[in-house]
This record gives sequence, structure tokens and C-alpha cells, in this order.
Amino acid sequence: MKKFMFLALLAGAILSCNSGNEEKTSTTVDEPSTSFLPPLMGWSSWNTYHVNINEELIKRQADAMVSQGLKDVGYLYINTDDGFFGWRDETGLMHTHPDRFPNGMKPVADHIHSLGLKAGIYSDAGTNTCGSMGDNDVRGIGSGLYGHEQQDMDLYLKEWGFDFIKIDYCGASELGLDEHQRYAEIVDAIHKTGRTDVSINICRWAYPGAWAAELARSWRMSGDIQDGWSYVKSIIGESLYLSSFAHDGHYNDMDMLEIGRSLTQSEEEVHFGIWCIMSSPLLIGCDMTTIRESSLNLLKNKELIAINQDKLGLQAYVAQRFGDCYAFVKDIEELHGNKRAMALYNPTEQPFEFTVDWKTMELGGDVKVRDLVHQKDLGTFNGSFTYTVEPHGVLVASIEGQRLETDVYEAEWAYLPFYNEIGTRRQMINFLPEETASGGMMVTNIGGQPGNDIVWKNVYSEQGGDYEMTVYCNSKFKRNEKTRDLHVLVNDVEQAVVNNLHSDEIEAIKVKVALQPGFNKVTMNNTIFWAPDIDRFTLKKL
Ligand code: GAL
Repeated sequence: MKKFMFLALLAGAILSCNSGNEEKTSTTVDEPSTSFLPPLMGWSSWNTYHVNINEELIKRQADAMVSQGLKDVGYLYINTDDGFFGWRDETGLMHTHPDRFPNGMKPVADHIHSLGLKAGIYSDAGTNTCGSMGDNDVRGIGSGLYGHEQQDMDLYLKEWGFDFIKIDYCGASELGLDEHQRYAEIVDAIHKTGRTDVSINICRWAYPGAWAAELARSWRMSGDIQDGWSYVKSIIGESLYLSSFAHDGHYNDMDMLEIGRSLTQSEEEVHFGIWCIMSSPLLIGCDMTTIRESSLNLLKNKELIAINQDKLGLQAYVAQRFGDCYAFVKDIEELHGNKRAMALYNPTEQPFEFTVDWKTMELGGDVKVRDLVHQKDLGTFNGSFTYTVEPHGVLVASIEGQRLETDVYEAEWAYLPFYNEIGTRRQMINFLPEETASGGMMVTNIGGQPGNDIVWKNVYSEQGGDYEMTVYCNSKFKRNEKTRDLHVLVNDVEQAVVNNLHSDEIEAIKVKVALQPGFNKVTMNNTIFWAPDIDRFTLKKL
């Protein structure tokens, strides 16, 4: 049963008596700054070599990055992953592996730097490294950062001169430490080395929470990738709703690339194309000295790299779901501009014919489509676009038309400040699959405490003014619940409160809100009790 309510609560009143709150109501939300670093590009030793690495091998890969033309298109980092550890002496000082790195790590970093590249290294937040567990590398026992934070960071970053560090969590899992606190301690030690230019990667194998963006340039959001299609597919599946957590130069890390190994050409295109549109770091994981031509060309595809390194630093979101197939989109070059990047992704075993209504992509008029993988124009299409994507395939395209003001904002596109995937909160705000919801997804467990909000950071209005907002939500009572109220804020100012919601199905709640011209921040919450589960909201200009 659908219940319609019209509640223009507070909106008018608040807007007309906001003089005491000038600051918040008179300004729109700032456009995201563009003065940040793009996703990191480079190579890492792990995928092909695991702990079986050595000085010559790393130096040869650095040479190959230059000679294969990869440096010229933006690949910059040569990262030594797990496997270089030797032993700690009586002062706690770390020594390198006697056979693999008999001359220490400084000559390795020096060689990399001599090529105009940057050098990356690896450690663990706990006592033991992952290699000591998964790869029987006994040298990793006691080689983690725990208890040696400053000593190790001074050695790796100041003395040896490494520019990037990936910090794993195997040893810290054993110790039962708090992730946020543990990574903050290590980052503090990094800052105390005096190096301010070190890039940090958190490797906790799941989206760790909003704090990760305060400490690191990127964070892993999945378990380890391996050389196989099922890994590529499952990591993309885990990335679908994480777009809002990548912002301002801080990125979800979908793990290192398996391109140049055993994937088919079309699977490699999915792997690289989706990593690019998702603004994941791009770390090559194959042997660059023997890489086949087709894989090398894909890794050097400048048009795909451009959407990865785009100055807006955005991760694509699911604009539309077609069963198991997805259409992703993101702004490039200019926020709310006429040009966007789109991916039509078919992970199934059958060809799939997509028909995308351009309105869903927020574009109107004649829309120019360019296939970025094959670097060819596909033509100009009006109204909608039909395209068949092969099994395990993708079309990654730039689309350019006339930008429309969208009237739909899905819950699964929103920023959830309290969300994490490491299970540190009970009854945490979460994504809830729901067949009757648009896109098949809702957000549940909103509210119950201050800060546990759902936030759309970039709600756009060309002119500003009054809008009818329709919130599609479900207010099924949870156990012991007395009431479900929804608070709606625009640019941090409360616009409407809807009390005593109770419906087992998705219902449409109407409120009136005022938007400023340009970008607005829309927040929904309840600082005491649960707010309803939210599917989406729509806007209609009044
Ligand atoms: C895993 C990590 C891998 C690799 C490995 C080294 O925990 O996710 O990417 O670094 O450890 O042992």
C-alpha cells in the first residue's frame, strides 16, 4: 500500500528566518578542490613473484618500465612488496634478506630514483608479515612495524629513501588491535620522519571507514586479487557502491593489475577499463620485461588512463542496473559538465544488449559516443543508446551531449560517514538489497545517533529555489522501536522533519526543500532513533 503525504514542514519557516545562520544558508557547498594527487600508477612485485624477489629483479623491472614506454604514459612507482625482510639485530634494526637483497634496499631505491621513478616498499601493522603466514617466509616473523614504528619508518623512508609504503594487516589481526588507532600511530611515525611526500596505502582487505581518507592516499577494499576472471569480477562486485568514499585525492584500491598474465583480451579490457573508470590505483603486476604487445598497448591506452587520472578524482557509480549487468558513469574534466565517462559492463556468460536512456546519464540532445578502449568514435545518438557487449566484456566510452539537471538521487550513491566493512560497529549503516527498490538497493540503519547520516554531497540545481522532494523509504519497525522520524537537511540546515513513519513497504514521502544555485549538500538522519531505510529521492522544481 502506498501512502502519500505532503509535509512542507519547516521549509518555508526556516528559510525566511535564517538571518542568524547566514553563513550556512547563503553559501552553496564548495566544488571539490582539484589540487590533489591522482590515483597512483606503477608496478608491484607481488602478483607475479610473491616473496621470491631480489635486487636484480626489481632493478630490471624498473628499467623495463622506462624502456617499454610505461613511464612516458604516467607509470611512476616501482613497489617492492613482501619478501625483502631479513632479521632484526639486538638494537631492533631491520636488515634485509641476505640472499635476495645482500646490499640492502638503498641501492634498489637509488636505482629506481636514477631513472626518474619513485620507489615503494611494504610492511605490516603488526609483528609478523603476511608472507610469514601465507608464503612460509620465516624472515617475516618479527619483521612487522609493531614496536618498531619510528625505527623502521626512519630507515625505510629517510635512510633508504622510499616514497610509498603499503601497510598490511596480517600481524595486527593476530594482535586484535583497533584498525583506526593502529594506522594513525604508524602514520604519525611516518610524519615524524620529516617526509611529507610519502604516499600511504592501507591494506586491510575491506573498506575500512571514513578515517582511511584522512590517513592514506588509498586503501584496499577487497581481498587479494589473483590471476583469474573470477577475482576481477568479484572485486568489481565489491566496488559497486563505494564511489562516494573516494574523494579529494583519496581512492579505493581495487588491488594490483593481473593484466599481461592469463586473462583473455576482453577480460583484460574489463579489468583495465573498470579500474580506470573507478579511479583505482593502477599497479601493474606482470613481468614487464616479457609482456605481450596487446597487454602493453592496453596498459598504455592514454584515453583510458586519462579518465583514471582525471582531475576531478571521482569514482564511477552505478547509474543503472540490468540484472547482472551494470552501467557506470562519472563526471570528467568538469563537474556537471557536458562530457562524462561511461562503462557498460557485462560479467555474464552471454552477450547482453544494453539500451541506455540518455536521461539516466543526465545527458540530452545529440550525444557523441567514443569507445575509449579501441579509441574510435561510435557516432551520435539521440534519446537512447543501444549497444551489445560480449560476455566478460565492457564498453568504456566518453559521452558528450547537453547536460541535464537530474531529478533522481539513489541512496547507494550517497556518502555514509559511519560505514565500514571491517565490522567494528554493531547494526552499522549498510546497503540492503531490496527487489522493490530502484537499482535493487537501499541503505538501512540510518540514524540512531548523531553523525550516522546519509549524505548526497553534490545535489545540483541550476537556478536554486524551492523543490518538492519525494523520499522513497521504508519504515518497517525494528525490534523495540517506538517511532521512526526522518530529518532532511540542506547545506546543514534542517528543512523538514517527518514524524511517526511506519510502513512495511517503500512509500513516497513528500517534503519541500530549498536549494541554492549550484551544488548543495543534502543530509538525511535522525540523531536519536532510527530513520527510515532509504531507496532514493527525487526532486521537482516548484
Ligand atoms: C596480503 C596483501 C597482498 C600482498 C601480501 C604480501 O595481505 O593483500 O597484496 O601484499 O599480503 O604478503
